[in-house]
Amino acid sequence: MSLRSPNTSPILRSQQTAAVLSCSALSFAYRGQPILTDVELRLDPGEVLAVRGRSGSGKSTLLHLLAGLLTPSDGEVAFEGRRFDQWSDRRRSRLRLKSFGVVFQNGDLIPELTVAENVALPLQLLRLAPDTVSARVRELLGQFDLGDLGDRNIDQISGGQMQRVAIARAMSHRPRVLFADEPTGSLDEETAADAVSAMIGAARALDTPLVLVTHSQAVASECDRTLELETARADPLGETRSR
Ligand SMILES: Nc1ncnc2c1ncn2[C@@H]1O[C@H](COP(=O)(O)OP(=O)(O)OP(=O)(O)O)[C@@H](O)[C@H]1O
Ligand SMILES: [Mg+2]
Repeated sequence: MSLRSPNTSPILRSQQTAAVLSCSALSFAYRGQPILTDVELRLDPGEVLAVRGRSGSGKSTLLHLLAGLLTPSDGEVAFEGRRFDQWSDRRRSRLRLKSFGVVFQNGDLIPELTVAENVALPLQLLRLAPDTVSARVRELLGQFDLGDLGDRNIDQISGGQMQRVAIARAMSHRPRVLFADEPTGSLDEETAADAVSAMIGAARALDTPLVLVTHSQAVASECDRTLELETARADPLGETRSR
């Protein structure tokens, strides 16, 4: 895996101040097969980083490593200057709950809960007061054009609306870092890009850095920088696999 950063400001930088999120010499392999090798990056407040690359090039893997959902094979990941990649699962879960917001590629909404309950979930896990929770949920539903849909079940809304619910949920507790894996397949590019543009705007308004996996050149051009992951790994059948 090699990395290329075509936009102006370099990914590799050494600065004295701690980045909000950073990784160095980050590598990951499945059963000895390298997926990512020696990734270096830092994210400062409000920076929006697009991650692009072909299917199977390791975009979701990188996002999961940076969000503490996977443990690297080598290298380090740090939040506000504190390395966390070797923390226990429990401690990393707590870090995610409090400080990170993640939009997964499959949305990962909870079908038993309504739209509003899904958005409220991180706030309830953080035990915020009910009034604060309902005010925050109302604000987010309005912000992501879901105003009338709070009481709907997840199977009663469209794919684009589900994506916006997942974004609203990831942002509900005002995380310090946002991660989003743009959904593929089920949504047309324009619908997906609209929701993601709204997320970029909301992240910038809060000065929250965002790592955004996107297939869209239009979306990437709205970001501050692009990290391009090159060369998908081919499986023994010569096909590129993806999750
Ligand atoms: N749990 C796993 N076990 C083994 N290999 C895996 C696993 N998850 C992913 N991979 C492999 O790692 C590589 C990178 O996968 P990843 O999901 O990060 O790709 P991606 O760039 O996000 O692809 P896509 O654009 O299709 O979402 C692929 O070759 C994939 O088959
Ligand atoms: Mg992926």
